[in-house]
Amino acid sequence: MKILITSALPYVNNVPHLGNIIGCVLSADVFARYCRSRGYDCIYVGGTDEYGTATEIKALEEGVTPKEICDKYYAIHKGIYDWLGISFDIFGRTSTEKHTKLTQEIFLALHRNGHIVEDEVEQLYDEKAGMFLADRYIEGECPHCSYLGARGDQCDKCGKLLHPGELINPLSKVTKTKPVARKTKHLFINLPGIEAELEKWVDSASVKGEWSENTTKIARSWLREGLKKRCITRDLKWGVPVPLAGYESKVFYVWFEAPIGYISITANLTEAWKEWWLGATDLDVRLYNFIGKDNVPFHAVIFPSTLMGTKQPWTLVHHISTTEFLNYEGGKFSKSRNTGVFGDDALNSGIAPDVWRYYLLSNRPESADTDFTWGDFSDKSNSELLANLGNLVNRTLVFMKNNFGGAVPDADAMNDADKAFLAQQDALVREITSDLEKVKIRDGIHRIMSLSKHANKYFQDNKPWELVRATDKPELDAGNRTRAAAVMSVLVRQVRDLAILVEPYLPFTGAEIFRQLNLPQAKWGDTGKPLPVGHKLGEPKALFRKIEPKEIDALKAKFAGKGGEQTFTFADLDLEVGEIQSVEKHPDAEKLFVEKVRLGDGIRQIVSGLAGHYLEEELVGKKVVIVKNLAPAKLRGVESAGMLLAAEGREHVPQKVGKGAGLEQDAVEVVFCPQSQVGQKVLRKGEKSGPKKTITFKEFGKVKIEIKDFAVVCDGKPLATIGEELRVKNIREGVVG
Ligand code: 2FM
Ligand code: ZN
Repeated sequence: MKILITSALPYVNNVPHLGNIIGCVLSADVFARYCRSRGYDCIYVGGTDEYGTATEIKALEEGVTPKEICDKYYAIHKGIYDWLGISFDIFGRTSTEKHTKLTQEIFLALHRNGHIVEDEVEQLYDEKAGMFLADRYIEGECPHCSYLGARGDQCDKCGKLLHPGELINPLSKVTKTKPVARKTKHLFINLPGIEAELEKWVDSASVKGEWSENTTKIARSWLREGLKKRCITRDLKWGVPVPLAGYESKVFYVWFEAPIGYISITANLTEAWKEWWLGATDLDVRLYNFIGKDNVPFHAVIFPSTLMGTKQPWTLVHHISTTEFLNYEGGKFSKSRNTGVFGDDALNSGIAPDVWRYYLLSNRPESADTDFTWGDFSDKSNSELLANLGNLVNRTLVFMKNNFGGAVPDADAMNDADKAFLAQQDALVREITSDLEKVKIRDGIHRIMSLSKHANKYFQDNKPWELVRATDKPELDAGNRTRAAAVMSVLVRQVRDLAILVEPYLPFTGAEIFRQLNLPQAKWGDTGKPLPVGHKLGEPKALFRKIEPKEIDALKAKFAGKGGEQTFTFADLDLEVGEIQSVEKHPDAEKLFVEKVRLGDGIRQIVSGLAGHYLEEELVGKKVVIVKNLAPAKLRGVESAGMLLAAEGREHVPQKVGKGAGLEQDAVEVVFCPQSQVGQKVLRKGEKSGPKKTITFKEFGKVKIEIKDFAVVCDGKPLATIGEELRVKNIREGVVG
């Protein structure tokens, strides 16, 4: 039998966070490594999900092509997974020719079989750009929470799913004009026509594949509500073209084609891809999907329906391994707010990948949400990895080196207690095997750590250090030494078994233990076998180091934006050109204005201390610079989502009469940028922009932006947009805040 393993294809346009990583790629990796260790014929297929609005919009924002966005983020994903030791047989992408071809073929088969229907829908149209707008291309005020930057599909502030028609004052993201409603045609997959067959399949597949309770529940609730036809086309350019006359300007909806990526990526791995995907029975190939719980409907209902509707014998999923959510310090990981630890943070943390793997896998949200906390992360690393597993391996190998010259001793003197101990440990190995067969990954690692704990106790109870000590009864010493030899042979065997068992979870550690044992990497089936007597072990070395509280504090501050000792630099700031739409007086503070400012991705409300320095009409319609990644704050009860850059300093007022030097007075001057476009980034000249985290006001204060000879500079370098270098008119020297 073949085992085909997939992990959900992450959206390409973001750096994955720890929750994404444990949700699919890491869990699937453990299973794939286990299967290989068992000698199963298996492949592990992954890759990036590249098409769709999110990529197009990101490209628009960064001023590059969607392809460039995909190339950049594909490399970031790949770098993180390589570092973490994810053993994909292929890490592919959906933007390939094979993918387009397969998607179109599957669509045409559905079409031939009468499962595709056409329908007219009313959709918002951008007259200036001459295009229909996908939901995410529309923004406006959320009808639920009044957030001004809500998208046509969802409000990021209150999380509610939206329909573009519900937005108050909708604007096109492309041209910032008001869209109009127009009729257009779309294609739908007619799920009701496939429902009966699907239901039969869910009934049997969920039992055969031992789907989790939650997965089966979600699939059944979709079926109970009755499947509806689903729109599978979108008005975008970056996607798989729809091969049907009249649909030349449309592409397939990303959720229609992304799962086909599992197949197309396999086809990019091997010519023999059909052996895995077409014409195989459940006994020939078993497909395991690893996904987060939000992806269940697509994997348990919609994608299987798509494949069934072709009337071709595609491999359908056998087991769906679903994770719940991993939370971050009691809250949510958030890409948009940059809250949490992301793959690149872990990579730059100075902490070994296996330590991250261990924490995530032993804390895997298998049946309920779990929490990542920095305190728990360091506690578990120190008390479990270091004090239990690391300690056992190290004390055994050091003892062997010091007392037996590192040569595996004879186990002849093993007594009944030793044998009973080994039998009990071997039984535990069988339970671990059963855990992994059932994809109970977290139970598996917990039992492996128990096995290690029992071995430590065995070491402690048998006191080999006393047995090798010369006594005043030399006639007993030889017997004691033989006994010590038996004890150590048991322990060396346990260390070797642990190296085999931890390898799927902690591949670097598994390999390092084998290196220290001076043995080639053994397979799962070798557990329980004795080591060859006389085999010379290698040099012992600590497997793990202690993670100090100071180190955790520094990481927490660095990655979680929680303040601390580290410095903030200009690179930490997200400065963007915005246009002031309206200015109102703050209801409770004389010196404050409340401005609505249009940025590249929507309108924001900003409170600033400009009243008294400017009249409202001097600001409306002006382009200004906004610090975009400041954590939102309430100023006298009014929410402010960012800050407007203004200079403070001595203003030179020329003397009107005569030749005097004129006057100097304290002044505030807004940094205007009339030559720049809304959404453009402000950078130090010649530098590039990178990903940004949310920063606090205090952190912003650590970056010194100044006015020097009327120019806005940071560390002596002028700040500029593509269109202009930033300058003020009246303040020669000052600070910007
Ligand atoms: O949720 C996500 O990140 C999606 N990109 C997963 C797609 S899984 C598969 F169907 F491609
Ligand atoms: Zn809202």
